Amino acid sequence: MTDPAFADFVRRLPKAELHLHIEGSLEPELMFQLAARNRITLPFRSVEEIRAAYAFSNLQDFLDIYYQGAGVLQTQDDFRDLALAYFKRLAADGGVHAEIFFDPQTHTDRGIAFSIVIEGLRAGMAEAKETLGVTSSLIMCFLRHLDEDAAMATFEQARPWLGTDIIGVGLDSSEVGFPPSKFAKVFAAAREAGLKLVAHAGEEGPPAYVYEALDVLHVDRIDHGNRALEDEALTKRLADQATTLTVCPLSNLKLCVVSDLTQHPMRKMLDLGLKATINSDDPAYFGGYLLDNYLATADALNLTRDDMVTLVRNSFTGSFLSDSEKADYLARLDQASDQ
Ligand code: HPA
Ligand code: ZN
Repeated sequence: MTDPAFADFVRRLPKAELHLHIEGSLEPELMFQLAARNRITLPFRSVEEIRAAYAFSNLQDFLDIYYQGAGVLQTQDDFRDLALAYFKRLAADGGVHAEIFFDPQTHTDRGIAFSIVIEGLRAGMAEAKETLGVTSSLIMCFLRHLDEDAAMATFEQARPWLGTDIIGVGLDSSEVGFPPSKFAKVFAAAREAGLKLVAHAGEEGPPAYVYEALDVLHVDRIDHGNRALEDEALTKRLADQATTLTVCPLSNLKLCVVSDLTQHPMRKMLDLGLKATINSDDPAYFGGYLLDNYLATADALNLTRDDMVTLVRNSFTGSFLSDSEKADYLARLDQASDQ
């Protein structure tokens, strides 16, 4: 059990979340509400039945149910409500900034217009800024189980929003068998457009995928990156060049990337000088939002207040905020960590 004073200290630290799939924040209660609103019949009779289905033995197990859940999202208001519900949870955890992933292909492939998705999310983001003071931006992810032509078509659809609302592109979905190099062309186009680049790599996939993300896609951050630790030269390179890793401990536990949180590599990552951050990934599916991830990891690995501050600091320095925005947030962090 976490010491309440420790929990309160961590909650009060202003934090950024850098690895959050907005579709993965769809709580069963909202899933039911949206299903009713849109006259969709779910293959579950109750919220409890949905939660009981959330027992995964790997990434694919989860993805199958996650894509199914996203089917209730139909209108602009649905996407706004989804985003706003997430921001409320984030703010309650002391989160002040989020760089949010969304999966447009999950929606456009079932006939929902790209503009519906993004305008709904933008409405939620604007409301969060106004009512909660939480800032945010969007990172558009390509589904790696689909081909690069589909990713390129999505990139073209996103053109009107690139560089303003959408600040970067990412790569998610099933990892093994779908190496980053498969998306070299679309990432080159995104780079040409001045966007930030990230990719999931080394969650289930081998260190070679992390090398590809760095050397072929030229990513600015690695999402997850756990398996990079299997390669000493890669680990040293990530530490030397201070590549931000967006690590998701409760996700790693629920998807059986680690057998137990006491076996989580976060302690090792910090000891090796890696620039790790803590994030929630798909909190509605993995049993915890941002603060839960910090506290569960601290509890399992005996992390200290200083470790918490280091991780939170990394969440800002590793963010895609401007230098002046980073400086403002870091000053707020310094103030909170002194108390
Ligand atoms: N890994 C890969 N793809 C995803 C994830 C994840 O953890 N969550 C949502 N899409
Ligand atoms: Zn993820």
